[in-house]
Amino acid sequence: MLQKPKGTYDIYGDKALIYLYFRKLVEALMDKYNAKFVETPIFETGELFHRGVGETTDIVSKETYDFKDRGDRNLTLRPEGTAGVVRCFIENKLYAENLPLKAWYLGPMFRYERPQAGRHREFYQFGFEAFGSSDPMMDAEVIGIVYNLFKILGLKGISVNINTLGDKESRENYRKALLDYFKPYLNDLCDDCRRRYEKNPLRILDCKVDSEKDMMKDAPKMVDYLNEESKEHFDKVLKYLSDMNISYKVNSNIVRGLDYYTHTVFEVQADIDGFGAQNTLAAGGRYDHLVEFIGGPSTPGVGFALGLERLFLALEKENIDIKEIVNPDVYIFSVGDEFKGNVLSLANDLRMAGFNVEIDYNSKSFKSNFKKADNLLVHFIIIIGEEEVNSKILTVKNNKTKEEYKVKLNEIIEFLDEKLGDEDEN
Ligand code: HAM
Repeated sequence: MLQKPKGTYDIYGDKALIYLYFRKLVEALMDKYNAKFVETPIFETGELFHRGVGETTDIVSKETYDFKDRGDRNLTLRPEGTAGVVRCFIENKLYAENLPLKAWYLGPMFRYERPQAGRHREFYQFGFEAFGSSDPMMDAEVIGIVYNLFKILGLKGISVNINTLGDKESRENYRKALLDYFKPYLNDLCDDCRRRYEKNPLRILDCKVDSEKDMMKDAPKMVDYLNEESKEHFDKVLKYLSDMNISYKVNSNIVRGLDYYTHTVFEVQADIDGFGAQNTLAAGGRYDHLVEFIGGPSTPGVGFALGLERLFLALEKENIDIKEIVNPDVYIFSVGDEFKGNVLSLANDLRMAGFNVEIDYNSKSFKSNFKKADNLLVHFIIIIGEEEVNSKILTVKNNKTKEEYKVKLNEIIEFLDEKLGDEDEN
């Protein structure tokens, strides 16, 4: 039997209901922030991610799905959303419009990682990117979105961890300090970190292999290398978070696995018993040079992405059920094949009038049709037979109260409107 590729999963049943509800929730939330929906291609030129996310990052050096198409082009399945949205911002000259521009997206991302609970090769992100403001207010606003989303969902066990990487100057000073500090320990570092030492020593702090080693605890801290401007930016972000009553922890070990960040970086972790190792639900930060780096005009940016699988896992752990079940209002079946056209026609009219309608396609018996209607928890059953077609009077049964009505065909919409309206009020 053919099976799905390793690290992927199907969305159906309850999972599909949860996914759809979450999507609706996000759409409504994003309207509240005047954020605009964008959709970028699932694959882009390989260069976009290799350059944009950074060659030294784990994502690009080990995890991208790179392939050549039949025209010999180098393409990559998107491992994350930011680089594609930045490319879209530049290519469509969105920078010429009123900035700041707030954009959001929701869709699959692909990373060749070792699958485990909360870690997949195809996974879904809800992401948000704001272009055109270097004000710390925007950093706080971005963190506020994630915080509010969790609040709306009723998720309690979360913590916001925040750090700053400072501006270019601060980061360069810090980089030098790290090079000096780690030089005597080079032989104690893992192979990856020895490479990171050469290319991006900040990422040594993020290493999962070396993180418990003593030398890590005494490593220089970014906060001691911030220039005035960077410090002021960070202080303001923290103040604005407090103004919004968002509790956070400053955590100097957060450096993030992607190269494009400057100033604020943050991760929102699940603090739930037995959640497992993959507990970062959402993460993001500021990237003031990425737009320019990818070839656009210098434009500051800040954003985040949230992993849907991890969020749904967290909701499950906290017994929060967000699935929304929609049952048909009406179930229609006919007595005899010759009236199937009447069933289709009535179902069409009712659907166009706004009702949810299910019909019998398979000429089931009376008994199994009633059973099906029960299973679907429908409000009304309409049966169409010779008598109904000739008289143009329908037999309508309230499947809850078991009352039966005779309703003229041309009055059925008003009838259902009134009855279903009454039930909504009760
Ligand atoms: P990221 O930290 O690589 O950041 O991913 C963000 C979130 O995506 C993670 O916190 C996690 O919830 C989820 N995630 C990542 N990899 C996997 C996986 N293999 N399986 C399941 N979930 C996963 C970014 O992607 C940046 N683009 C975030 C950003 C937006 N920064 C600025 N703007």
